[in-house]
Amino acid sequence: MSEMKKVSRRHVIRLGWAGVVFGMTGATKSWGRSWLMPTPAEVEGPFYPVADQLDKDADMTRVAGRSGVAKGEAIVIEGVVTDVSGKPVTDVVLDVWQANAAGRYNHPRDPNPALRDPDFQGWAVIRGDAKGHYHFTTIKPGAYPATKAWMRPPHIHFKISGRGFQTLITQMYFPHEPLNKVDLLLRSKSAQQQSAMIARAEGKHGNLTVYVYNIVLTP
Ligand SMILES: [Fe+2]
Repeated sequence: MSEMKKVSRRHVIRLGWAGVVFGMTGATKSWGRSWLMPTPAEVEGPFYPVADQLDKDADMTRVAGRSGVAKGEAIVIEGVVTDVSGKPVTDVVLDVWQANAAGRYNHPRDPNPALRDPDFQGWAVIRGDAKGHYHFTTIKPGAYPATKAWMRPPHIHFKISGRGFQTLITQMYFPHEPLNKVDLLLRSKSAQQQSAMIARAEGKHGNLTVYVYNIVLTP
């Protein structure tokens, strides 16, 4: 399958008013063609790692030097990073961090009493390839309480950097999560933005569910 075809059609917008506005800031010679909606930004949140760690590779289910395996459902996240025309962004760096299966971050100020998991890496810094494609293996994060009245749905934080593009900080969500509908952050986005922020389950890699999450950067 070509990289272009892998870009979710849900992310494609025709040149409506939003496209016209975007087109005015982009390449006007491309009037009439399809654009990809830039991936919406989201707050970084309070749990970006504060202490460096040696193991930040693309398999978050194991920690170098330990024999155990992270608790929870192992999954694969993959996608392609492009510009709004669908052209791959090469040599992109993806900095991803998330809670463990119990909803606990490996962060000293996470107030959640849920257990830490020493076999879960929790943080990865990976590169996309020459076609903008990236993938990593992790565990599905648990929901966690942001406040007494607000449970965050499972999500993964991303910081994506590509040369010549604005660094994008956002959060990726999982499909069919009841908490998605009541999340104070996600529900503040438009339906189209929410669609772009929710990965889609697409097949298996071995016995691991693959979630596809394509990312569109702006210059
Ligand atoms: Fe979070």
